[in-house]
Amino acid sequence: MPYSHRFRVFENCDSASAQVAAEIAQLIRERAILGRHVVLGLPAGKTPVPLYEELIYLHREESLSLANVVTFNLDEYIGLPASHPGSFRAFMQRTFFDHVDIPAENIHFLSGNVSRAEATSHCADYEHKIAAAGGIDFQILGIGRNGHIGFNEPGCMADSRTRPVTLFDMTRRDTARWFPGIERVPNRALTMGCGTILEARRIAVLAWGSRKSRIVRRAIQGPVTADVPASYLQAHPGAIFYLNSSAAACLKSK
Ligand code: F6R
Repeated sequence: MPYSHRFRVFENCDSASAQVAAEIAQLIRERAILGRHVVLGLPAGKTPVPLYEELIYLHREESLSLANVVTFNLDEYIGLPASHPGSFRAFMQRTFFDHVDIPAENIHFLSGNVSRAEATSHCADYEHKIAAAGGIDFQILGIGRNGHIGFNEPGCMADSRTRPVTLFDMTRRDTARWFPGIERVPNRALTMGCGTILEARRIAVLAWGSRKSRIVRRAIQGPVTADVPASYLQAHPGAIFYLNSSAAACLKSK
């Protein structure tokens, strides 16, 4: 695929998010007419906040019902109860799920509370639930400054499945804002695997700001390598990066 098909550049994160929200809304409405559900894979973090705000706006102001939406979040810290303000579950609830009409039983999370012994079967069960829902129609991703997607850190395999992982220090530093200090950020997490993510029918990767510009270039225009897990997306015909101009600043034009 030519480079230029792998990304779209927008003036700012709001216009990029509005485009992705419009695509999600169209899919939701098309499926609703057919009486079918839509399966979304969702990230936590700072990047998707304007997307969630736009979907909430469409729900409130343009009567978009999300009653036929099923969600699977990408990842969760190990060792945090769902009620901890730093958990991705709590983040998603206050940022998105509390404000739309997705039925509670359609919302799926990896649990940060499973024991080491239970983790493997819990992750396998998550994969079964995704398959039973018909697979992920539209996966939304952020990207870490080290190229991680979900919590698949550099070195992970392209065909990795949902599993427990150890977080890199850069990742823990970058997510420390929800915790009193970096030492309180868990160093283990459960994440959907790269293989799980790559099975989604469509993938939108969102990235904003100059902090992400170098890794965005390596992901889109660099070699496909385990050093940059997001580069695995180059093999997916339906994966597109949605960038604001500063996140796109390092891309070569050809
Ligand atoms: C979060 C996730 C991570 C983030 C990435 C970017 O569920 O899976 O891959 O998308 O760390 O985080 P932000 O958006 O905070 O820059």
